[in-house]
Order: sequence, then structure tokens, then C-alpha cells
Amino acid sequence: MRNEIEIVLTGIKPTGKVHVGNYIGAIKPALQIASAGTSTALYFIADYHGLTFIQNRSEFRDLSYGIAATWLALGLDPEKVIIYRQSDVPEIFELSWILSCLTPKGLMNRAHAYKAIADKNEQLGVEPDTGVNIGLFTYPVLMAADILLFQSDRVPVGKDQIQHIEIARDIAEAFNRNYGDTFKLPGYIVDEQTSVIPGLDGRKMSKSYANTIPLFESEGELKKLINKIKTDSTPPNEPKDPATSTIFLLYSEFASQEQIEQFRAKFREGISWGEAKQELFHVMNTYLEGPRKRYNELMAAPEQIDRILSEGAKKARAMAAPMLEKVKSRIGRYR
Ligand code: TRP
Repeated sequence: MRNEIEIVLTGIKPTGKVHVGNYIGAIKPALQIASAGTSTALYFIADYHGLTFIQNRSEFRDLSYGIAATWLALGLDPEKVIIYRQSDVPEIFELSWILSCLTPKGLMNRAHAYKAIADKNEQLGVEPDTGVNIGLFTYPVLMAADILLFQSDRVPVGKDQIQHIEIARDIAEAFNRNYGDTFKLPGYIVDEQTSVIPGLDGRKMSKSYANTIPLFESEGELKKLINKIKTDSTPPNEPKDPATSTIFLLYSEFASQEQIEQFRAKFREGISWGEAKQELFHVMNTYLEGPRKRYNELMAAPEQIDRILSEGAKKARAMAAPMLEKVKSRIGRYR
């Protein structure tokens, strides 16, 4: 046990509108950790990770602001949490280069984001690296720099990111072995219970399946999307199984314990799918109304977001700079 305050760090890459699955799986648990106040929390917009995918200027800009506005609208307090934009902290990229020189290429070949594309290309009978840029290939090194520069103890992530944390540990170990103990080995926090949030079609809610419910869609759009949730053909008045229902699962994330129990009883009594969707819309909309309003206000005033992010970057850089100096002295950059 270390007696210093633990550091919790996580990033979100701006590659799509934030959806309910991101919220439940990553944002909500991270906000809970932050509000517990027992750790130093650093939450950032991984915009240069996003750049490996999003190469349209206005899309890149708007999605980046969208992540910041989402955190803030959901109640992240910039006085308590260090919130910053990755690209405002140049120390990360300098460390990323240093780490890349200690990273075996084979480790990147096995990283699943890259491997998934290479395998798919192979199936298609095209050259394995088709559509792969070097940024995407070395994505895990930049992520290791994000994490290691701040001596992070724990990183809240979705299940799909565990491999990346393990890679960060491998890289830290390689550095420590060669230059002496320098980096803390990070651990991860995964929310086992809520790690799979079903989307409109019942599969995992994911941008790549086009089955998401964006978090801050207008009221009308939210209603429309909820009406699209796939249900089975159990007729009205027949009991329904809450455990296998997307409607019930989503409801449970936004309702109070008491509401959840009442909703469960209604399933037993045979609520119709139409009514169930109406009730889901009602709890979600009630819950999201305030944050949605705040989100829209922030998106209409990006200079407010800029101000908050640049304050955050100052704090982040104050932590990052001495660590980078330590690394540079370890590698023999100084006399
Ligand atoms: N790769 C993460 C994702 O796809 C985003 C990310 C970038 C991140 N750097 C990070 C997450 C550092 C945790 C810590 O969601």
C-alpha cells in the first residue's frame, strides 16, 4: 500500500456522439469515483487518438467539444477533477516517442484494434495493412504515455480496453527494467455488471453496429429511438421476462430502486411493449433533461469549454513536466 492519494485517470476518444452505452459503461462509473473524492481524478479528451479515425476538420472539432461538454453537463466539477484535452499537453507526445523506442513492434501487431482490421483485410483478400495508418498501429503506445506520465494507479475502462492497459504495463516494465524503477504499473477498473449495454437491436450498443441511443438527442428523437428498440413477439397481457429485455435493462440504469421494482412487477403482470417503451422514455427523459439543457448551452458557447480545458491543461502539465524530466534524465538526455 502506498500512503499517497491514488491517481485515477481515464480518456474518451472523440470518434462518435456519446451514447447511452458509453455513459453507463464508462462515464457514470468514472463520475462516481470522482465524486467519492478519495482520489486525484484526471479525465481527458483523447483527441489525438480520435485523429487516427476522424480526419474531417469540423467533425473532429465538434466531437472533441462534445466529449468535454458531456462530462461537464453530467456534473463533473472542474474544481475537483482535472479535465483537459490531450493535445494541450505536449509532454504526452514526447513521452510517447520515448516509449515507442522501447516497444517491440510485435506487441503492436498483437494489439486487438489493429489485429481486427488486419484479420478482416485478410478475409477480404486484400493487403493486411489496407486502411491502417501508423497512428492507429501505435495507438497503444500513446495510450501508455497518457497513463504512465501521470503515474496512474487505476484506469476505469470498458472491457475492450483491458488489453491496452496490459500493454501499458508491459511498456512500463520494459522501461523500468532497462533504466531502473521509474513508472508505476497501472491497474484497471472495469464495471463487470454493466459492461454490456444492449443497443436498439439487442446486440452490444456500439457505434460500429449503428444501434446506439445518443445521450443528448432531442426529446422527440429520444422517443423515436426508444420506439425502435427490438422486442420479442410476446403479446400484450402476457408476462414478460425483465432479465432478457433491453427496455428493462436500460430502465434500471436511469430509475430509482423503487421504480425498478414496480417496473419488474408490471413485466410480470404483462405490460405491453408499447407501454413499457413509454415508461422507459419517461424515466430517461426526466433524468437527461437537465444535463441535455446544460450540454446544449455549453456547445453553443465553446469559449466556456476552452476556458475550462485550458485551466485543466495547466494543472495536468504541472504534474506531467517533472515526470517527463525524470524520464529524460533516466534515458541519458542530460549530462
Ligand atoms: N483507447 C480509449 C478508448 O478507446 C481511450 C483512451 C485513450 C484512454 N487514452 C486513454 C482510456 C488512457 C484510458 C486511459 O476508449
